[in-house]
Amino acid sequence: PTIYAITPTYSRPVQKAELTRLANTFRQVARLHWILVEDAAARSELVSRFVAGAGLPCTHLHVPTPRRYKRPGLPRATEQRNAGLAWLRQRHQHLPLPQPGVLFFADDDNTYSLELFQEMRTTRKVSVWPVGLVGGRRYERPVVENGKVVGWYTGWRADRPFAIDMAGFAVSLQVILSHPKAVFKRRGSQPGMQESDFLKQITTVEELEPKANNCTKVLVWHTRTEKVNLANEPKYHLDTVNIEI
Ligand code: UGA
Ligand code: MN
Repeated sequence: PTIYAITPTYSRPVQKAELTRLANTFRQVARLHWILVEDAAARSELVSRFVAGAGLPCTHLHVPTPRRYKRPGLPRATEQRNAGLAWLRQRHQHLPLPQPGVLFFADDDNTYSLELFQEMRTTRKVSVWPVGLVGGRRYERPVVENGKVVGWYTGWRADRPFAIDMAGFAVSLQVILSHPKAVFKRRGSQPGMQESDFLKQITTVEELEPKANNCTKVLVWHTRTEKVNLANEPKYHLDTVNIEI
């Protein structure tokens, strides 16, 4: 199966560095199709140029987050992930049989091991695995007994139906197509509940397929990039060339 990676991304000083790191990982993965969704009213020149030279199959979309949702404490990238889902569904809806595919949500700042892609490629419906550096702990993970997920090891909101980060699961294309209404929701969605709100539309805890040696290995890390210090950017005496970073 093809692996589809949906990556929401937005303009900021570290954007190109994040995308470069991600492309360097994804380029090493066979049959990976990258769906980059800019949080913007139009495709930016920076990302367009980047995609053209990325050296892997890319689809470049954009949709702006409405201003009222750009507030601390509100979920991020809801509209962008939905745009990626809509593109996937539209591309496959005319085919008699969907091509085998696996979808996952790849935020632009996380760190992904190559082994993760081997694990997710065998997803039949919905697969799950541990995520490092998240939830106020070294890692969070699904707790597995006799090959089934029976609970969650987490330090944060253990009441979540699926106590898992966006980086902790993959979904088969078949499941995405057979649940055409499953989307990320703004209404009633609290921070940290986006994953649960989405997953409960398409699966149950009993049905989840544990990966990464029964969820005992961390193959993805919820790394976050420090905000860059631009305090010494000149206000006048600008550089003689304007260099893209
Ligand atoms: C955590 C989760 O890991 C995310 O999957 C979840 O979307 C997010 O919380 C949330 O609050 O909704 P965190 O590291 O705090 O992640 O979030 P970011 O990495 O800042 O953002 C997640 C993704 O959305 C990134 O790919 C980022 O580029 C994108 N994003 C962020 C936008 O497209 N627009 C924004 O305004 C902010
Ligand atoms: Mn992040």
